[in-house]
Amino acid sequence: MKAYCIGSIIWPLLIGLLMTGLVTSCTSGRTGTYSQPTLKEAFKGDFLIGVAVNQAQFTGKDARGAALVEAQFNSIIPENVLKWESVHPRPDKYEFTAPDRYVEFGEKNGMFIIGHTLVWHKQTPQWVFEDDKGNPVDRETLLQRMREHIHTVVGRYKGRIKAWDVVNEAINEDGSWRETQWYKIIGEDFVAKAFQYAHEADPDADLNYNEFALETEPKRNGVIALIKKLKAQGVPITGIGSQMHARMDWPTVAETDAAFDALAKLGLKVMVTELDMDVLPSAGQYKNTDTAIGRLSPDLQARLNPYTNGLPDSVQQQLAKRYADLFGVFLKHRREISRVTFWCVTDTDSWLNYWPVKGRTAYPLLFDGNGQPKPAFDAVIRTVR
Ligand code: GLA
Repeated sequence: MKAYCIGSIIWPLLIGLLMTGLVTSCTSGRTGTYSQPTLKEAFKGDFLIGVAVNQAQFTGKDARGAALVEAQFNSIIPENVLKWESVHPRPDKYEFTAPDRYVEFGEKNGMFIIGHTLVWHKQTPQWVFEDDKGNPVDRETLLQRMREHIHTVVGRYKGRIKAWDVVNEAINEDGSWRETQWYKIIGEDFVAKAFQYAHEADPDADLNYNEFALETEPKRNGVIALIKKLKAQGVPITGIGSQMHARMDWPTVAETDAAFDALAKLGLKVMVTELDMDVLPSAGQYKNTDTAIGRLSPDLQARLNPYTNGLPDSVQQQLAKRYADLFGVFLKHRREISRVTFWCVTDTDSWLNYWPVKGRTAYPLLFDGNGQPKPAFDAVIRTVR
């Protein structure tokens, strides 16, 4: 009887203590008061969870953003500072201050550090392709410039940056070659050469081809044909990145699944490299313009930028479902997918606020403008069984 009485006091106490301990250990690494596991904890056995970071985040100027990155993610990619125009703005000038800070941030936090991007047709200065008189350079000159750039940038971070996006977006939607200056001046083998130079500079780094809209079959077929050819030639390519800049109605679950099925057959590492979800109405007709939303008619502004005062709950829930559906596909392919990277940390960081129209209010990510997790965050965490 006495034992029973003592037990009835002690057991609740013990259980209480145990619960407190559990809650405390579970909250370590969480954002603010949020009571979910972090993304990197949730997908630990499946794939790395990465994010594109901007300079304010990796230098700590944006302390809240930096803390969110540290808490939630175990892999990083620089949004801009390693693009050619930033790191190598003039022929004789490299800017390594920011990239150095980026790599230090990743190392301090024990993260998988990615380099992005070596050869691309965008954010590359025009001098790269021209001589002193503004005429196009010849093949040998451009190859020599490409080699010098890749050796200098990859060589500087040898052994520290573990994976590089070597070539970005070489193929059109119909599977044909994109007529970039790289392609026009060097020819098809500009891709093979870029991989060869990157491998010379760091033989241990993962070297990836990075592309968008691989869920579109003709484009995917063109990319797969290119990669098969590279492999047959012995080109040191180790992975394929599917960017996945998604929309609410594209790609479907079936299209996403089919894309990973096809990519997995290449026998390379497969990665989701730039995930976000555009909830705004399509404004594709403005993509090669410099249009600011404020310059459009009031009607058009209201139509193209409908959520200036916050995302309605119904859309918030649809966004959450879309993310959960896509993560369902990623988990199905977790044996092939080595990492999933979000393109930016919070909604306000996203490029979709200024592309294709400047000054819209976009909601493409898992964290809102205050760094708080959205319903999509919960939905993604819940996909883990
Ligand atoms: C491309 C590039 C990224 C980034 C995104 C969106 O997909 O690979 O570096 O610029 O577009 O801005």
